[in-house]
Amino acid sequence: MARKILAVAEKYGLFVVEHAAQAISSFYKGKPLGSLGHLACFSFHETKNIGSGEGGASLINDERFIKGAEIIWEKETNRAAFYRGEIDEYTWVDIGSSFLLSEVTAVLLWAQLEKFNEILSRRLELWNQYYAELNICFRKLKSERECFFIMFLYTIAPFIKI
Ligand SMILES: Cc1ncc(COP(=O)(O)O)c(C=O)c1O
Repeated sequence: MARKILAVAEKYGLFVVEHAAQAISSFYKGKPLGSLGHLACFSFHETKNIGSGEGGASLINDERFIKGAEIIWEKETNRAAFYRGEIDEYTWVDIGSSFLLSEVTAVLLWAQLEKFNEILSRRLELWNQYYAELNICFRKLKSERECFFIMFLYTIAPFIKI
């Protein structure tokens, strides 16, 4: 699937942004989600497995986006280039906003990332328990058999055709 999307993008000169809001540490046919397209976005909204209230992460898989991302990171200034000594002074080079997590929010996120394996194991345990109890009437979705995902939602497919 990912290969087909990328092929279409290549054919028409498009970029692929992976909407990976809930997909941290998930895999599609062995490839980590967030690494399939040119760019990807994870969410750390409070509803996610790993959350800091608000916040998220953008992943860049194509060097062409690094400079632009640095400018967004630095509140639409070219300060990163200034810090590297590439320019004598920095200034605003685009319109934008401030997208970084506050330090307090980042601390919440960091604490959860440190416990990531523990959180994931507990979810997996509960997930397996659901399947053990409900497998008489529900089966796993095909996509769940091909992928490793971090049990964000408990999705089911009935055996009986409706
Ligand atoms: C599928 C999906 N897309 C986007 C979002 C929005 O993420 P955020 O609130 O971090 O922008 C969420 C989470 O709320 C989501 O579940």
